[in-house]
Amino acid sequence: MNQPSQPDNAASRKILVTAALPYANGPIHLGHMLEYVQTDIWTRFQRMRGHDTTWVWADDAHGTPIMLSAQKAGIEPQQLIDEMKQEHEKDFVDFELSFDNFHTTHSDENRHFAELIYSRLKEGGHITTREIEQLYDPEAEMFLPDRFVRGTCPKCHTEDQDSDACENCSTTYDATELINPRSVVTGATPVKKLSEQYFFKLGNFEAMLREWTTGEQLQPEISNKLKEWFDGGLMDWDISRNKPYWGFEIPDAPGKYFYVWLDAPIGYMASHKHLLGDNTAEFDNYWQAGSTTELIHFIGKDIAYFHTLFWPAVLEGAGFRKPSQVHCHGFLTVNGQKMSKSRGTFIKARTYLDHLSPEYLRYYFAAKLNAKVEDIDLNLEDFVARVNSDLVGKVVNIASRCAGFITSRFDSTLADSLPQTTLFEESAAAGDTIAQAYESREYSKAIREIIAQADKANQYIAEHAPWTLIKTPGSEQQVHEICTLGINLFRNLIIYLKPVLPEIAAQTEAFLKHEPLQWQDSKAPLLGHGIEKFKPLIKRIESDTIEAMVNASKESMTEETTIQSGPLHDDPVSAEITFEDFAKVDLRVATIVAADHVEGADKLLQLTLDIGGETRNVFAGIKSAYSPDQLVGRQTVMVANLKPRKMRFGMSEGMVLAAGPGGSDLFVLTPDTGATAGMRVK
Ligand code: MSP
Ligand code: ZN
Repeated sequence: MNQPSQPDNAASRKILVTAALPYANGPIHLGHMLEYVQTDIWTRFQRMRGHDTTWVWADDAHGTPIMLSAQKAGIEPQQLIDEMKQEHEKDFVDFELSFDNFHTTHSDENRHFAELIYSRLKEGGHITTREIEQLYDPEAEMFLPDRFVRGTCPKCHTEDQDSDACENCSTTYDATELINPRSVVTGATPVKKLSEQYFFKLGNFEAMLREWTTGEQLQPEISNKLKEWFDGGLMDWDISRNKPYWGFEIPDAPGKYFYVWLDAPIGYMASHKHLLGDNTAEFDNYWQAGSTTELIHFIGKDIAYFHTLFWPAVLEGAGFRKPSQVHCHGFLTVNGQKMSKSRGTFIKARTYLDHLSPEYLRYYFAAKLNAKVEDIDLNLEDFVARVNSDLVGKVVNIASRCAGFITSRFDSTLADSLPQTTLFEESAAAGDTIAQAYESREYSKAIREIIAQADKANQYIAEHAPWTLIKTPGSEQQVHEICTLGINLFRNLIIYLKPVLPEIAAQTEAFLKHEPLQWQDSKAPLLGHGIEKFKPLIKRIESDTIEAMVNASKESMTEETTIQSGPLHDDPVSAEITFEDFAKVDLRVATIVAADHVEGADKLLQLTLDIGGETRNVFAGIKSAYSPDQLVGRQTVMVANLKPRKMRFGMSEGMVLAAGPGGSDLFVLTPDTGATAGMRVK
């Protein structure tokens, strides 16, 4: 007796949704998943409301970091991006993301649209060229993107600073102004070299952008932020890179390539085209200027600039429609801090999935997400408490308290009527508030309302205690109706949670012998309907599991950090630490009081370090540079507050700092400076 599904209003919308394209040279982590779960919930919600909703995206497969990652791994970029795409897509499917197409920016469709857009921009007079000076690595024979150059701050002379800003004095500068610049790729001193580059004249679109960026397409925080950019003046955007580069060569410019950020958002179109195949009419229906369909982008705050200035201007300049909305979220922190490999809170999507069901995290993210550009904290203790209390203790509990009676006493069939109470109507009416909250991306508000409804249902069942009532002769009809109401209240909760918990919803559909639940189904109760025997839908999270996941994150990451050095991927989370992070590192001068070979280890020496009255056992990978007898009695610098780590050979209680190209050129020792063991280094 299912109700036919109805769209929420007469006009069904056509919505194209995207999430930001993950770089194809690193694993998916829980920071990415915050965005992708946010996107998925919204997409699933729209579909449940009867709207024609399509989600397309892709791997972002171009750029210098990907080229260098492949080189380092000794494979072709094509192989790297193919493997990554498979891995990413598997993570996404296992996280229950309901995308319609996951493509790659290194595709025929994307080349076609990048070239088309570029040629239209050129025809429209929006492209200009000029010679600029950039840093060039003479050894690697390549121009260096900014983050591949480091050097001494031109203002305060602090060494080893990023190419754009000093961590010590916060001065911002151009990479070419660094004192003693060096290439992160080879260590060589970059030289300045002139070359011709292609620029997109963003300033041509100032009037349009000024208006567009203050409309309802953007959140107020983002609009305000953009005012600063307008005040600074809209500069031409360099959209070309010199060879060697991994990307698309610019048609009329041999040796020049489109900058990855030009073709990345075009990847949204390319993925959609790939999905639609020959259906050009449908593609045009979405992408032509003046389209009445909706184009909704979900992105993180770090890439707002690209999506709210360049992208709409490029679309406008090339005669395409502009986005209906760019929705920006904040960053994920874990236990109140930036995700950290050493703390084991840089958790890969795969590591999470190895330990826990995706539905727990989807629920927790939903409970915390709102429409603001705020950072969101995954507090692991709170995560366990919240999921166990809300989902296990409140929502699923309703069904498990009522279903048994229906099965054992009432021939597995719901009653034909509900008890005299307005509870069901209240629960149905709450659907409108909850829908409004999902629509405006106020998921935490939706979840609060849903849990309030669950509380009411539990209270009703506790008050009417069918397990006691059933002992009273002649109470059958009453118990039947009470339990039928309980099951219907539960059904509504699951309808409202279905965008968040697709798997639990599917199990509930099986339990209720119900067609896929639609939003409108919450308006009328399910009566006189046969149901299956109830099986537990979800287990409590045990804190052991969390611990195991955190430990696994520590292990898998330490292996990797020793293999890859240098900022090879674009993820700001893993590439940098804050000054506060650095201040936590306790650096001490240590005297090496004993040094020994480690049986069975090719690279390690076992050191006993005296840090002033306290000794530490440390395994250091410096065997290639030193024999034990060279070390005893000399001093080095160690990280004294590194969490002890169990290694195959024993416990390592710290880390020795070493510098140099490696092999026998690896230096851990201070010459005899007279430093005292235990002295703090900073
Ligand atoms: N490739 C670009 C996006 C191109 S879109 C045309 C990129 N890739 S990314 O892999 O670095 O990030 C993908 C998305 O994940 C971005 O929206 C980014 O904001 C988001 N996140 C990456 N780390 C994140 C957190 N720690 N927290 C929340 N979101 C994060 O940028
Ligand atoms: Zn400085």
